Amino acid sequence: MAVRLSSTFVFRKLHQLTGILPLGVFLLEHFYTNSKAMTGAADFNNAVRDLQSIPYVIFVEIGGIFLPLIYHAVYGLFITWEMRPNNVAYPYPRNWFYTIQRVTGIILFFFITFHVLNFRFGLIPGLNELSVADHPNQAFDIVSREFANWAIFAVYVVGITATVWHLANGLWLFAVDWGIVIGERAQRMAGYACIAVGLLLLAVGLNAQVAFIRPGGLLGLIGLAS
Ligand code: HEM
Repeated sequence: MAVRLSSTFVFRKLHQLTGILPLGVFLLEHFYTNSKAMTGAADFNNAVRDLQSIPYVIFVEIGGIFLPLIYHAVYGLFITWEMRPNNVAYPYPRNWFYTIQRVTGIILFFFITFHVLNFRFGLIPGLNELSVADHPNQAFDIVSREFANWAIFAVYVVGITATVWHLANGLWLFAVDWGIVIGERAQRMAGYACIAVGLLLLAVGLNAQVAFIRPGGLLGLIGLAS
């Protein structure tokens, strides 16, 4: 018997899938590369140079990051526009998480647009007009110069926190919606696991950010950097 899938169902599943693969996986790679800043400018610059030497890198970026990101962002904004928040009438955690997933999505839309134009393309006039990707020898210096500005630093703290929340809650939504965790107890345990993953990712993301202005990052501040 042939099964007919509605286009909304397919668009929705594709939206959920792109959030995990490639976007979630890319975020892990991105935090890994950023964490190279913990051991200094040369290590970070080498990591940027290695990434830029991937054969056909521009096509890898377009197919593996930009297109899935644009699809997920535009369809996510459409879902948000259609949303029916009920966290005020029913103040349960799941209802709040529903609203926060959409609010962080909107924050991410603006943050990622700014971040990509700024560091990948160097297109924010008056702020940074050098692309980090095209100037690996200066990559660390470009980022650390910008993070010395407390307003830019604060924008990145908000952006990283919103991204990690969105991914950690998204992992839980995905696992439940795709039938990977079934049953109330399993879903509760998966919720705790996603909180743990989120806290760990937040620590790694912010530690890497601080490493651009303080050697070793947050760990360096308490004498634990290697
Ligand atoms: C750029 C702007 C973005 C917007 C506007 C956006 C919007 C949304 C919205 C509205 C949802 C909820 C869908 C639902 O409940 O059915 C969602 C889910 C999700 N997003 Fe995003 N998002 C964005 C970026 C990202 C990024 C960068 C990542 C990865 C780091 C990501 C990962 C996820 C995941 C894993 C889910 C859960 C999928 C599911 O519901 O099963 N999103 N997004």
